[in-house]
Amino acid sequence: MKINTIQKIEFFDREKEKEEIMNILRTEPQLINFIYGPINSGKTSLITNLIENLPENYVVFYINLRKRPISTYKDFLEVMFDVKYEGILSRLIRLLGRRGDIVNDIISDLGKTHGIPIPKGIFSRIFKEEKPENAFVYILNLIKDAKSKGKIPVLIIDELQVIGDLEVDGKLIYKLFNFFIALTKELHICHVFALSSDSLFIEHVYNEAMLYERSHYILVDNFEDEVARKFLKKYKFNEDEIKLTLKYVGGKPILLRNMISIKQNGKSIEEEINKYILKRTGEIKQILYYVEKFGKTITFGEKEVSLSYPEIIKILENFKVLEIFIYDVITPEIFYLVKENILVIDSQRRSIKPQSRIDLIAIREILK
Ligand SMILES: Nc1ncnc2c1ncn2[C@@H]1O[C@H](COP(=O)(O)OP(=O)(O)O)[C@@H](O)[C@H]1O
Ligand SMILES: [Mg+2]
Repeated sequence: MKINTIQKIEFFDREKEKEEIMNILRTEPQLINFIYGPINSGKTSLITNLIENLPENYVVFYINLRKRPISTYKDFLEVMFDVKYEGILSRLIRLLGRRGDIVNDIISDLGKTHGIPIPKGIFSRIFKEEKPENAFVYILNLIKDAKSKGKIPVLIIDELQVIGDLEVDGKLIYKLFNFFIALTKELHICHVFALSSDSLFIEHVYNEAMLYERSHYILVDNFEDEVARKFLKKYKFNEDEIKLTLKYVGGKPILLRNMISIKQNGKSIEEEINKYILKRTGEIKQILYYVEKFGKTITFGEKEVSLSYPEIIKILENFKVLEIFIYDVITPEIFYLVKENILVIDSQRRSIKPQSRIDLIAIREILK
């Protein structure tokens, strides 16, 4: 039996984005950095890859709020502090400036946590009161400690939109933003990065008065054609395969990876593309059918609003010829199409486009 060794698919490119983030990391913390972009565009991968390659003097606190469902303040704290579910301190070694088993020692000392070195007593005290400020003070002290040891602290919160609506004696997110402002603009003590694929959430943040001139936005978009082309070439795609993939799949890294795997397994790229298009066309059709047939009311701002089906079609019709357009205001219909992950907005550029090339193709198919 012949066993082919399959070329492992590695992290690709993102040089421009990495450079932008490195430039931020080389200067004094000043602004809160929001990293945004379509679903599965590679935000988490980029930040993970960057962390792995940072010099030893950086201490990175990485929290992914999607690790577990968060519906209460207690859930939030457990995700922040309990590393069983990937907690706050992913580079404890650097903080301590030592290597080896030290991390594991602390983990076993703490029992259930194996991330942020938080003594049980303090954790339960923070737990007891519904005061996020207590948790923030603890984290701040940890950051100060790292800083005093000559380290550069970096706080990264992935999937920030998860706690967008969480109430803990008022909206938690505002308290978190205040904490971020203290870390950056006021104390210049820690770099802060917040990641999200939810473009409506980012739109909210972008227009938030308290963050005005205190935040910076970094787009991590699907790969541009040129980058996608190089990516595919690396995995031995021929010119026809590249053209086909770019035309119908576009530059979404996760889909490109799937296409590479398909090819590596000797399956048909064309068939896979047809499957993608058929599936996505069906899904979007179903969403539109529902609105057309039964109508749809959504909460838009504070109001309950009935969607106009013709208005939805009108928005989609822009994509008959365009791939992207500039919006004037976000109408309830735009809001809905974004909420359903058919379209994605970019608040910085005030542009709107389908989530991926597949979505674009599916929209065009439906409008035929
Ligand atoms: N630069 C890249 N090179 C190779 N694969 C990537 C790259 N970026 C993303 N991917 C692939 O796409 C998937 C989705 O990326 P992810 O970082 O989770 O997206 P996001 O956080 O933007 O939703 C990853 O699991 C990875 O397989
Ligand atoms: Mg992610």
